[in-house]
Amino acid sequence: MNGKNHKLTEPLAKLRAELNTPASIAALNELEKAITAYEEQFNLQNARVIHAERLSSLAEMATGVAHELNQPFNVILMAAQMVRMWIKRGKEIDFGRLDRLMEDIEVSVRRGSKIITHMRQFSSGSSYQNLPLDLNKPITEIFDLLSQQLKAEDVTVEFDLGEDLPPIKADNYQIQQIFFQLISNARDALNEKAAATDKSFVKKLVVKTEVDENLRVVASIFDNGSGILESNIKKIFDPFFTTKEVGKGKGLGLAIIYGLVKDFNGTIEAESELGVGTKFILRFSPA
Ligand SMILES: Nc1ncnc2c1ncn2[C@@H]1O[C@H](COP(=O)(O)OP(=O)(O)OP(=O)(O)O)[C@@H](O)[C@H]1O
Ligand SMILES: [Mg+2]
Repeated sequence: MNGKNHKLTEPLAKLRAELNTPASIAALNELEKAITAYEEQFNLQNARVIHAERLSSLAEMATGVAHELNQPFNVILMAAQMVRMWIKRGKEIDFGRLDRLMEDIEVSVRRGSKIITHMRQFSSGSSYQNLPLDLNKPITEIFDLLSQQLKAEDVTVEFDLGEDLPPIKADNYQIQQIFFQLISNARDALNEKAAATDKSFVKKLVVKTEVDENLRVVASIFDNGSGILESNIKKIFDPFFTTKEVGKGKGLGLAIIYGLVKDFNGTIEAESELGVGTKFILRFSPA
């Protein structure tokens, strides 16, 4: 925002013409200034809310990252214990095996450092770049980061990613942020259904990307979770709409996603059937 509110320009000009006295014009100028200041404040608060939401998803993600880091740490620990055992028992060092263990360590350290770099980039909100982007990239990266966590929660993920998608113009990490929120909602819906059904229920996520007949790049994510009440579907993108208990949901995830998708000239819609599942469909124009 830089001072003038363009939606106000026309009605204010009309009012100035109608009430053409110095006092009323001064009052209108005051009013315009007050509204503009209010709007600037609103935009600032909005940016703060988005930042706070990112931090809160980061806290949620920390659990997943802990899972993810556990695996390379275990490999390193086992390798170290093995070598120490050889030394303790005075065994002759088998350099072939030692080399393989060192390779395991190297691979694990690289994996660990990749996870940490990824988390750091995901959390830094300052370096957005709207470059031509293969939509499969952020989707694969965010699922990669959350794979251990989803596995631990018995969520089966099926991918059907289209090949050679035309690039879209968007920021890799913001698209990851979008999918992170969608996955997080899907997990809640899957857990809700799991709690209400018998043990044979298999939690499923299906992720698909393709090009549609209008040459738009489409991504969809389906979960066979609790579904959404028909009368609620039109409210889910509203800020602060939530069906979750106090302290669990703020009703901001989808409102923020809606704004981000719009920033990339994309669209998002939801289809859902109560008790059957929910599908979110995102469409983007090629770059
Ligand atoms: N995959 C889904 N399955 C079922 N219901 C969903 C799904 N995604 C969203 N919803 C419904 O839409 C509501 C709004 O979602 P949104 O992500 O905006 O907020 P939230 O998840 O409740 O809270 P927050 O994201 O701020 O933690 C949810 O409370 C839920 O009722
Ligand atoms: Mg949410």
